[in-house]
Amino acid sequence: MINNVVDGDISSIPADAMVVGLFEGDKITADVISCVDKALDGEINKLIGNGEFKAKHSESSVIHTLGKLPVRLVVILGLGKRKEFSPDKLRNAVAEICRLLRKLNCQKITMAPIGSDVKGITIADSAKLIAEACILGLYNFDKYKKSEEKAIDEITLVTEDSSRLSELSNAVSKGVTIAEAANIARDMVNEPANFMTPGNIVEVAEKIAEKHNLQLKVLDVTDMQDLGMGALLGVAKGSIEPPKLIILQYHGDESSAETIGFIGKGVTFDSGGISLKPSKGMGDMKGDMSGAAAVLGAVNGIAGLKLKINVTAIVPAVENLPSGTAYRPADILKSMSGKTIEVISTDAEGRLILADALSYALKMKLNPLIDLATLTGACLVALGTEYAGAFSNNKKLIADVIQSADNAGEHLWQLPLAQEYKELNKSQIADIKNVGGSYAGAITAALFLAEFTDNKPWVHLDIAGVASSDKEKGYVVKGATGFGVRTLIEFASLSSKEGGKYEN
Ligand code: BES
Ligand code: ZN
Ligand code: ZN
Repeated sequence: MINNVVDGDISSIPADAMVVGLFEGDKITADVISCVDKALDGEINKLIGNGEFKAKHSESSVIHTLGKLPVRLVVILGLGKRKEFSPDKLRNAVAEICRLLRKLNCQKITMAPIGSDVKGITIADSAKLIAEACILGLYNFDKYKKSEEKAIDEITLVTEDSSRLSELSNAVSKGVTIAEAANIARDMVNEPANFMTPGNIVEVAEKIAEKHNLQLKVLDVTDMQDLGMGALLGVAKGSIEPPKLIILQYHGDESSAETIGFIGKGVTFDSGGISLKPSKGMGDMKGDMSGAAAVLGAVNGIAGLKLKINVTAIVPAVENLPSGTAYRPADILKSMSGKTIEVISTDAEGRLILADALSYALKMKLNPLIDLATLTGACLVALGTEYAGAFSNNKKLIADVIQSADNAGEHLWQLPLAQEYKELNKSQIADIKNVGGSYAGAITAALFLAEFTDNKPWVHLDIAGVASSDKEKGYVVKGATGFGVRTLIEFASLSSKEGGKYEN
């Protein structure tokens, strides 16, 4: 879709629409936009002069060229104030404009490297960000219902500087790889639970492994029994769908013995089990495998970028349903770690499956560990739909993860792994219980997970509030957001450059 970069004069290239950017308060001086303005007999200047177009962020004006240029439409895209600009502002504005042009039935679009040379954004950064924005913003899940709008076939980035062609096409293909990785996760999450069973997640992992020639290991029930994964097996008991533990390995750095572990909660449907959820909104729980989708999408992206790093994704995949064979409140489960867990609620299943997945990650000596999970409604209550909760036992690691999220335009907010609340998880009859009471639910869930990390460097991201969106805004569309994929790719990229070692 956005596949090519060409050099030349954007005003001479035929297309349905051409997009140029403008900052608030900027004069139209000697650059791309002034050539276009001249060809349009000063129309853009008039729009600004009479106050019709103020170049506010994401504001746009569509001008019909009436044959004065080889494009049907010229679109000026407002970028807001220069001093408030950021990479994410660029992504959001470009995504919005792409969707507008799709509505206007444009199939072929040319675009200048909008928003470059501002706030440290280089022309290559701009190319990468534009590519990401186009692919993320135009995403729709139309597998089961064809959308009425025609897809945009081609977005061409046009540079005046022919010496930078290959640099810019590299940047574009990076952006494409990253955004496509997020869209893999979005596809998985948008699939309903009857088409995204644990077995279907395995199929996705198989496709990724095949495409990039990665090692894939899938544990089934008997393997889990041999390993003593009583927590994961307990959750699985209510469903006829057999649980899977997926281990997908990318080896990009033969010279290193270190491997990062990404662990993703893969509950393909969370009905709550015997502690059944209310029916209102229960369908949203098809997205309870968003963590799994994020870690698999990220590995696909990291392999696509050929980053010099080793990464292993671990996905416990299971369906949480009530039935005559389901696990119950008050059951005691014996986890792989040896710790026994009293089940207070069968709806606090995420922490149970992650406990065994973390033990498996420790057995594989992965370091650091980063888990992503739609773990608690409490996190949604605390931080809303824009910020994921972040917990860690290692200062440098969490700083690096937050930095990575920042680069990706994904918001994390650190919450305390408050030792004062550890006692809330104490059980009368087992080593620990799976619910810590009604207060600080996101924290007690994180403290529960911490018990299974052997105090190795670890970050837990509670993505319950951010994994899906009920509105369209910038490059976020309705449905799955793909949250976490781009943060994890950024983190792998940062680690590949800095060789980040973490010790506790
Ligand atoms: N999958 C849910 C958490 C969730 C809630 C994700 C809302 C996305 C949106 C999780 O398994 C769950 O049910 N957690 C319970 C825990 C409670 C029983 C301690 C919750 O948050 O209510
Ligand atoms: Zn649950
Ligand atoms: Zn859940």
